[in-house]
Amino acid sequence: MDLIQENEASEIFQAQTHLYKHMFNFISSMTLRCAVQLGIPDIIDNHGQPITLRELVLALQVDQTKTSHLQRLMRLLVHNGFFGITKVHDDSREEKEAYVLTPPSKLLLKSKVPCLSSVIVGTLGQRPLSPHNSLRDWFYGKELTPYETALGIGFWDLFSQKPEVRNVFNETMENDSQMITLALHDLKPIFNGLGSIVDVGGGSGTLGRIISEAFSQLKCIVFDLPHVVANLQGSEKLTYVGGDMFQSIPPADAVILKWILHDWGDEDCIKILQKCREAILSKCVGGKVIIIDIVINENEDGHELTELKLFYDIQMMAQVNGKERNEKEWEKLFLEAGFRHYKITPNIFGFRSLIEVYP
Ligand SMILES: C[S@@+](CC[C@H](N)C(=O)[O-])C[C@H]1O[C@@H](n2cnc3c(N)ncnc32)[C@H](O)[C@@H]1O
Repeated sequence: MDLIQENEASEIFQAQTHLYKHMFNFISSMTLRCAVQLGIPDIIDNHGQPITLRELVLALQVDQTKTSHLQRLMRLLVHNGFFGITKVHDDSREEKEAYVLTPPSKLLLKSKVPCLSSVIVGTLGQRPLSPHNSLRDWFYGKELTPYETALGIGFWDLFSQKPEVRNVFNETMENDSQMITLALHDLKPIFNGLGSIVDVGGGSGTLGRIISEAFSQLKCIVFDLPHVVANLQGSEKLTYVGGDMFQSIPPADAVILKWILHDWGDEDCIKILQKCREAILSKCVGGKVIIIDIVINENEDGHELTELKLFYDIQMMAQVNGKERNEKEWEKLFLEAGFRHYKITPNIFGFRSLIEVYP
């Protein structure tokens, strides 16, 4: 091997660090999941003050021999920003380190709304990870999605056949929808003047409930597959309707699609949008479709935001043959479905944007 310059060697070592860091990215996911499964955020919160390692071991009721292992788990979780460290004095006035919550772990508290712990545990459950292990085989195979390659059945088929899978998924979605409450103030002008809205693919109705309670004039239809809305109890302002969005959508002043279009390929999205257009045109003039979804914008977004959006893109590819889109790709769908104008409010929900689409 040729002798290499000192600066070249340092670049190569940096490259190795980069490779290995990404090879081990899954350890960040799995230690986060473990912290949620152990209930560490709630334990710290219930403690009412920073918690020392010894107190954490006692609260978790794990064997004392696991103390140093727990410390190592916490060290990585602190490094990744999920917990913080502060100094406290114990009974003997000795200074000790103690763990505190940070903004991300405050979002994992089961007694608070919004709470994302089911999203973390549900998304990182055993079954949803296996499609990613099958990506290579899928590239050479005939199945529509890596999910099918791994499990021998499509995501939506499994979803309709197995209530236990559906329940985990629905809980994940309910938790995720709670985040909308944080942006309600910004949504006022979007919902102003609307009397009715249909939440297409609205699942168990968390979003429908949040917006119909927040905007007094608004009645909401939660529309989803019949087995999803069967036995769900509505109210005067919220009704559940079962059906297929590819066939027809109940008429309303506006349609809302949260986390729907990224589940589907372009052809299917155009069909769904055409049905949305029919639903708003049959009700009134001046209706719109409101989309809550990712808009990829690598020029404007920082590295972390873009990375998350690209992770979601692969997640959609692996799970349901869906995709995340940039503005140009969204525009193409809207025009092909017969819409004429649209307005994007970027990243209004953190990593998700709001798109209003007009006929
Ligand atoms: C990713 S979830 C989003 C749920 C909800 N909008 C949310 O954000 O919490 C997709 C939803 O689309 C529904 N769905 C799938 N195919 C459908 C169809 N053909 N017609 C109506 N809803 C459908 C699923 O049952 C599921 O509730």
